[in-house]
Order: sequence, then structure tokens, then C-alpha cells
Amino acid sequence: MQIFKEKALLTAYLKTIWDKNCAIGFVPTMGALHQGHLSLIKKSLAENDYNVVSIFVNPTQFNNSQDLEKYPRTLEIDIEKIRTICSDCIVFAPSVDDIYEGKTNSKSFNYDGIEHEMEGKHRPGHFDGVGTIVKKLFEIVKPTNAYFGEKDFQQLQIVKKLVAKNDLKVNIIGCPIFREANGLAMSSRNERLSIKDRDEASIIYNSLLTAKEKFGTKSANEVSNWVKHSLEKNKNLTLEYFEIADETTLKTCIRKSKHKKYRAFIAVFIDNIRLIDNISLN
Ligand code: PAF
Repeated sequence: MQIFKEKALLTAYLKTIWDKNCAIGFVPTMGALHQGHLSLIKKSLAENDYNVVSIFVNPTQFNNSQDLEKYPRTLEIDIEKIRTICSDCIVFAPSVDDIYEGKTNSKSFNYDGIEHEMEGKHRPGHFDGVGTIVKKLFEIVKPTNAYFGEKDFQQLQIVKKLVAKNDLKVNIIGCPIFREANGLAMSSRNERLSIKDRDEASIIYNSLLTAKEKFGTKSANEVSNWVKHSLEKNKNLTLEYFEIADETTLKTCIRKSKHKKYRAFIAVFIDNIRLIDNISLN
């Protein structure tokens, strides 16, 4: 396994690979790797000649300094986890200075409005930070294929827009959500949950499953109201949003159309830890 902590060293190494015209798979992460990340790496391994995994906690996508500070940083453990599935992966774990060169700011992006929905509304500047780092990483790694989890479904749509609008030469591949045995979507933030919180967090996926069932016969508004009321009963949990939205535009579904695909999206706080999840409704 090759581990690079500086972009100049990584690009010097990658030059020899770019010249060979091989497929390079790329899995960008912020570390604290779990089975969900490992599934992305496995997919990349199956579909590419070379595989790069980045581990970088990107400061510009955090709109809350405490969240950034508390974000788990477990580089050595992450490297060992990657080693269990891949002996020749290329790991890129740069410093903030190396990436941002003293100017830790986001660029401003226009993603045709999808940046203003859900996560965009509740985490101002988040998608500018995501766009800034993902574009930088794509420019450094120049991957053929890049893998993103559907847990961050809005992020996946944002990255597809970023690629299309900037004419970046990379295929974006969305991968299914990995879940704990109780249905909780795997996330690096789960590490901060107590055992009791983890148990209670199963209500998130259960609500999504019931929402999916109800969406077959009820309106989007009725389903949303049901989810909101049923979650209100749990005092340890604060619902930030529940939305049923068009899968492409991410605009709230007002009236169902047979010709559109919908998804339910949810964000909750449990003990000040923010968790998101989503489910396809048709
Ligand atoms: O999904 C993540 O872990 C991050 O948003 C990403 C894509 C690695 C950018 O920092």
C-alpha cells in the first residue's frame, strides 16, 4: 500500500499511472471508515486498475465549528481497515495546509438550485465546501471513476452537477447505503452515539420504511405529517427535517406524479449528533 501525505508526492507517483492510460478508481472520504466506505472501496477495486482512497476532514464543508472539532480522526485505524481489503491501494491523507495552501475558503458553486434544498437550507455553505474539496481532489487524482454513498444522496446529486457543469472527465458512481443490524445507516458520526442512542436511532430507518409503505396510498403531505408526529413522541430525538422530494430536482413533492421518482429524506439530532438518511419511494 502506498500512503501519501502531500499532494506533490501523490501526483509525482500518479504521473506514471496516468501515462499508462489505466482506469483509476477514487473513493474520497473523511476517514473514520466503516463497512459503507469499505463497500465503496471494494466496488472501486472490482472496476479499476488502480485505486486511490483519500482521507481528509474538509474544514470548509462544516458550518459548525464544534462538529468539525469533534469529527473522529482515526488515520492509523483507517489505514489498517483499508489494508484488510486491499494491499495495493493508494491512500492520500493530506494536511489542510497542503490542500488549501493557506486559504481555507470555499469557492461558490451554482448547482441549479439543488444546493438550496434540505442539507443546503440547514447547513449554509456546506455544498460550496463539498464542491471545493471534491473539485480539488478530482484535479489532483484525475480519476476515471469516483464512488459516493447514497446515504448522502443530495451530495451525490451535487457532485454529478459539479462534474457536468465543469466538464470534469470522471464517472460518478452512486453506491447503496450500508446499514447496522438495527437499520441505522452507517456513518462516521455513529461512533459518537452511546449504545442507548444507537438503539433509539433505529427509529429513523423504521420511520422511512413506514413512510415508504404509506406513500403507496397517501399524499406526500399526509406521510410527512405522520413522520413528524410519530418522531415528536421521542424526547431524545429532534427532527430537523423530513422531506419527500423529486429524486432529480430535490424539490418537495406537492402532488405525486406517476412519471417522477421520489425519495424521502430525513435529518435528526440525537444527543446533539446529527444523523441523515433517505429511502427511495418508488
Ligand atoms: O462524504 C464525505 O465523506 C465528504 O463529504 C467528501 C465527499 C469526502 C468530501 O469531503
